[in-house]
Amino acid sequence: MNGVANLALERESRVGTIAFIDLKAQQKLIRDKVEARLLAVLDHGRYIAGPEIDELEEMLAQKTGAQKAIACASGTDALIIPLMALGVGAGDAVFIPAFTYNATANAVLIAGATPVFVDIDLETFNICVDHLAERMAEVAREGKLNIKAIMPVDLFGTPADYPRIAKLAEKYGATVIADGAQSFGGKQDGKWVGALAPVTGTSFFPGKALGAYGDAGAILLNDEAMLEPCSSIRWHGTDANKQNSVRVGMNGRLDTFQAAVLLEKLAIFYDELEARKKIAKIYNERLGKLAAPQKMIANTESGYGYYTLATENRDTIREAMNKVGVPTAIYYMTPLHKMPAFADYATAQGLPGCEWAAERVLSLPMHPYLSEEQAHFICEVFEAAMAL
Ligand SMILES: Cc1ncc(COP(=O)(O)O)c(C=O)c1O
Repeated sequence: MNGVANLALERESRVGTIAFIDLKAQQKLIRDKVEARLLAVLDHGRYIAGPEIDELEEMLAQKTGAQKAIACASGTDALIIPLMALGVGAGDAVFIPAFTYNATANAVLIAGATPVFVDIDLETFNICVDHLAERMAEVAREGKLNIKAIMPVDLFGTPADYPRIAKLAEKYGATVIADGAQSFGGKQDGKWVGALAPVTGTSFFPGKALGAYGDAGAILLNDEAMLEPCSSIRWHGTDANKQNSVRVGMNGRLDTFQAAVLLEKLAIFYDELEARKKIAKIYNERLGKLAAPQKMIANTESGYGYYTLATENRDTIREAMNKVGVPTAIYYMTPLHKMPAFADYATAQGLPGCEWAAERVLSLPMHPYLSEEQAHFICEVFEAAMAL
């Protein structure tokens, strides 16, 4: 087997530069169309609530199977707004996994509610439904907080266990607000992310699988009762005429330029998704025996926002890959209950699954413009690093 030092020498001539996420290659492909879209916005001048916003919302609903889509300024807003619309606030419990991006917990706290941290499943890295059941029973028994919502996260693009989560939500009269920030394009039981829960918040941060050229997000709704309050809260809590405040709201609007960009990105998204899946297949086949790639429950497909696996020698592998010029990332080095901002919500017993994952996960380059040769080369480097 070729060693790490040789691979470092060969990388440029064999596969060129490897990007973790390659937005430039994508832009090259659609630059003319994006420019035309942006020029159209400059021409009509409706920088807020332009026709591209309606068009995007229609397309998002159509593509995901959600009843309605509400474009937002960010993925974080797409979580805060539904929480506010549900009336979640002081004294209310929202159950979230502690192995996620900090925005999940921030959304709950900004709404004024209490995040109740739940451990993750060691194979899927998503919320552990058995532990969720325990935590919900515990909170119900204690009677200090009202059980209001469950916010599962589709980590790295892989939908959480929605059928089982829905049963728990029903048992306790809670609403499921999915944090699908990373999972646009994911699927479960034949339905796309956006149609798996009554409410899903997704993010179009530039590095996401469907990314804007700035901050952006959307609420994907399947609960008609949420449409009016979510739309109103996004626009300062006003009623349909946008003059009279009927509730407390915020400026959570997406700007028209970002919608224009997203429309062109959405047009190529599903081809890109197939390309992501090809890369994931190569990784799974070659690395599945050496490490533990994220697993999915039955009838579930990842949108492959990220490709992540767990390995005991994560730091050695990462260093070797770095030497060869293979960029990697660690999402996340610290679970939320260990972060100062959220430490008040930690429990004495900790969250062993989250802590285990934080020390072992590694995300490999994942984007639709990665060639199969590059993916194989990355596997070769991984194999060489494992032999160190
Ligand atoms: C799991 C998760 N939730 C929420 C967010 C927030 O999205 P945004 O950055 O668009 O506000 C992100 C974005 O990184 C995320 O990864």
